[in-house]
Amino acid sequence: MQRTIITTGDGSKTIHLPEWNENYHSSHGAVQEAKHVFLKHGLELFLGKSEIHILEIGFGTGLNAILTLEASLHVNAQICYYGLEAFPISQEEMVALEYENLLGSDSLKHKYTEIHATPWDHPQSITPNFTLTKIQETLQNQNFKSNTYDIIYFDAFGPRVQEDMWTKEIFEKLYNSLKQGGYLVTYCAKGQVKRDLKSVGFFVETLPGPPGKREMTRGRK
Ligand SMILES: C[S@@+](CC[C@H](N)C(=O)[O-])C[C@H]1O[C@@H](n2cnc3c(N)ncnc32)[C@H](O)[C@@H]1O
Repeated sequence: MQRTIITTGDGSKTIHLPEWNENYHSSHGAVQEAKHVFLKHGLELFLGKSEIHILEIGFGTGLNAILTLEASLHVNAQICYYGLEAFPISQEEMVALEYENLLGSDSLKHKYTEIHATPWDHPQSITPNFTLTKIQETLQNQNFKSNTYDIIYFDAFGPRVQEDMWTKEIFEKLYNSLKQGGYLVTYCAKGQVKRDLKSVGFFVETLPGPPGKREMTRGRK
């Protein structure tokens, strides 16, 4: 499928899929969305913990991963980050996104390249308190260990274009992979998605969305 690079409302770039008219991030602001949905309403709930296990569905450009890595510098927690991705981006796309420019400190800039260069399916220590395991597999085929993750960043393409990523079977699998008290966070606020999350056991909250989007969803196990 054809992929092009576009600039979003906050100046950060993302990938656009013309065939589906779908983006990897919000056109209102890729960084704003990532920080609001996944960091503010996900990661920040666990900052008091000594170890945080995060599973991202749709690793994509690595934006959520580097923003989480940056946030990890200011906390004492050990972060184990697992990024599931079926169709990795290319080296050219990685360069064109220029996400290293988003990282404040010079010492962090090369970490963006490093997270893309790390081999798939092997845990890799990126900083003393951030370990990354990239998993190359489809969500449909991947089996997760039960009671393993504290947070799931559910960042699949929307149900309009990829309905098979948003089924009750998938949500049940993700529910089982979360620890008790763990959270699934997603930018999507579709009623059917919320009902399906609820039907597999999640306690579902509708939260204010990032700039340009009214609502988002969070489910607690
Ligand atoms: C909305 S984008 C993710 C954006 C990403 N979190 C980021 O920060 O760049 C959705 C991602 O899901 C991936 N994807 C699509 N179908 C998939 C599948 N069946 N299993 C796993 N990943 C899939 C796409 O390749 C894409 O990278």
